[in-house]
Amino acid sequence: KRLLLLNGPNLNLLGQREPETYGSQTLEDIVQLVTDTADELNYELTAFQSNHEGELIDQIQNAEGNVSGIIFNPAAYTHTSVAIRDAVSAISVPVIEVHISNVHNREEFRRHSMIAPVSAGQVIGFGIDGYRLAVLGIIKKIESEGR
Ligand code: DQA
Repeated sequence: KRLLLLNGPNLNLLGQREPETYGSQTLEDIVQLVTDTADELNYELTAFQSNHEGELIDQIQNAEGNVSGIIFNPAAYTHTSVAIRDAVSAISVPVIEVHISNVHNREEFRRHSMIAPVSAGQVIGFGIDGYRLAVLGIIKKIESEGR
């Protein structure tokens, strides 16, 4: 049983990037938190971060048949990428969208998500704890649907 953790552009800079918005924890801290949470529930984790749209799409396509669920922070591509949305739409694996910050109380352009209509759920505004909540939520969903 395996989950995929996907993080999009600039999330490799967490810890140093706008700490007033994104906190002081790093991508490495997130990977550790998600690995530990998955492990508590007997899931293994594959983690991947990329600044490149096509690489994220390759990972989404590869997920089909290989993982039971995806925890995905598409970062800025959330608001712009039809191609990522189409990739999520093309697979049957459930995707939970995570945002560290509360995208609804920031700039107007962050309020719209291209991914939301094709995701299984969203966790927004809980800092990096949102990733843990997403793992708990997606596993419950996966198991209740008998996947
Ligand atoms: C983000 C919110 C996006 O608007 C932004 O482009 C990011 C991070 C978040 O986790 O809060 O890079 O996805």
